[in-house]
Amino acid sequence: MTARNRYDAVAMGLHWLMAAAILALLGLGFTMTGLKPGSPLQFKLYQMHKSVGVLVFVLVALRLGWRLGHQPPPLPATMGPGERLLAHAGHWALYALMLGMPLAGWVVVSTSPYNIPTILFGVVNLPHLPLPRDLNALAKGTHMIGAWLLIATLVGHVAAALRHHFVLGDDVLTRMLPRFGRK
Ligand code: HEM
Ligand code: HEM
Repeated sequence: MTARNRYDAVAMGLHWLMAAAILALLGLGFTMTGLKPGSPLQFKLYQMHKSVGVLVFVLVALRLGWRLGHQPPPLPATMGPGERLLAHAGHWALYALMLGMPLAGWVVVSTSPYNIPTILFGVVNLPHLPLPRDLNALAKGTHMIGAWLLIATLVGHVAAALRHHFVLGDDVLTRMLPRFGRK
C-alpha cells in the first residue's frame, strides 16, 4: 500500500488523541453533573471538563486546517454513492459537533448565574463571553442535545469502521491505524 492510501501521521495522531479526549469528556460530563452540587470533587471535575473541552476546540481547529491542505485517502471504489454520502456526512457532522460542543459549553459557563471562573488546566483564565443570563437554559439544552447527537453519530461511526474491517474486509479501518514500524 502506498502512503497515498493511508492517513498521514498528523491526521492519525489528532484523530486518536481527540477520540480519547472526547470519550473522556462524555464520561466526565455525565459524571460531574450527577455529583452533589458544590462538592470539591464536582468543582475539580468541572474544571477538568472545561479544560479538556477547550483543548478539543483548539485541536479541531488545527485538524481542520491540516485537513483542508491534505486530502484524505479516497474511499474504496466498491462503495456506492449512498454510502459515500453517508460517510462524508458523518465525518462533517463529527467536525461540526467537535466545534459546536465547546462553543455551547463556553456559552453555558459565561451565562451561568453562579459566575464560576474557568481556569484552564489550573493556569489560564478563560474569560466569560459578554452574553445575557437568559441564554443559559438554551445553551445548556444545546450542549445536552449536542452530547446525545455526538454519541449517536459516534455509534454509527464506530459501527461503520468495524463493518468495513470485519464484514467488507477493506482497508478503511487499517489506514487510520499506525503501523508501528511495519513497512
Ligand atoms: C467536545 C467537547 C465537549 C463535550 C463532548 C462535552 C460533553 C458534555 C456532557 C456529556 C455533559 C453532561 C450532559 C449535560 O449536562 O449537558 C456536559 C456538561 C457540561 N459541559 Fe461539556 N462538553 C464539551 C465541552 C465543554 C466546554 C469547552 C465547556 C466549557 C468551557 C463545557 C462545559 C460544560 C458544563 C458547564 C456542563 C454542565 C451543564 C449543565 O449543568 O447542564 N463543556 N458536557
Ligand atoms: C470521539 C471519537 C471519534 C471522533 C470524534 C472521530 C472523528 C472522525 C472524523 C472526523 C473522521 C474523518 C477524517 C477525515 O477524513 O477528515 C474520522 C475518520 C475515521 N475514524 Fe474516527 N472518530 C472517533 C473515534 C473513532 C473510533 C473509536 C474508531 C474505530 C473503531 C474510528 C475509526 C475511524 C476510521 C477508520 C476513520 C477513517 C475513515 C476513512 O478512511 O474514510 N474513529 N473519525
